[in-house]
Amino acid sequence: MKNIIIFGAPGSGKGTYSDEIVAKYNMGHISTGDVLRGEIKNGTELGKIAKGYIDNGQLIPDELMIDILAKTYDSLPKGQGVIFDGFPRTIAQAEALKKMLSERGDDMGMMIELVVDEETLLARLLNRAIEQGRADDNEVTIKKRFEVYHNQTAPLADWFEKEGIRNTFTWNGTKEAMLADIYACIDKNN
Ligand code: AP5
Ligand code: MG
Repeated sequence: MKNIIIFGAPGSGKGTYSDEIVAKYNMGHISTGDVLRGEIKNGTELGKIAKGYIDNGQLIPDELMIDILAKTYDSLPKGQGVIFDGFPRTIAQAEALKKMLSERGDDMGMMIELVVDEETLLARLLNRAIEQGRADDNEVTIKKRFEVYHNQTAPLADWFEKEGIRNTFTWNGTKEAMLADIYACIDKNN
């Protein structure tokens, strides 16, 4: 299996679709958000640093994030393909990922971009706040996360376009239909 980078705004479904893809194709999965929330839960030094950024909807500094990503990647079994969920989020992270993978004889595979309107994103995240109580799912922090996404992460889509691996999927109201299109893309690219 080729690697997959799943890319999109907060609430676009990166985690939800990653879970489905992992179950179908038996791939590895790295969610940098989940890694950081795990560190916070365990009260580690990294968790203490990360909490300040996450609670404010800001990105963790690139150097720290790149180091965490490489360590997590190296801890996974090889040869199954990995879904990168929530990474990269800046050009520096994208360049670092490309380099890290090429040093290991691997590449980025394909990028899957999820495009969802902001009203739907907000409704999903406010609903998740009730269901799961994630600390950054409050309206003030969600708005900051949207802003950070637009300013720092969305411009990366063009970077992937230049790499020739961008595949865009726009939300049309049905999860199953979107998932079928994503599977067709994965099959075509493998
Ligand atoms: P992260 O955990 O990555 O959060 P995010 O990007 O804000 O995205 P979410 O996890 O909120 O949404 P998602 O796209 O996974 O959607 P989901 O599937 O859950 O990052 C959190 C923070 O960590 C960042 O703000 C930053 O501080 C830090 N961080 C992480 N990575 C970093 C990096 N690389 N560099 C620097 N800092 C980093 O879906 C959302 C909800 O919608 C769910 O409840 C789902 O059930 C629901 N839903 C309803 N209908 C649908 C549908 N049709 N499709 C999908 N989901 C649906
Ligand atoms: Mg997520």
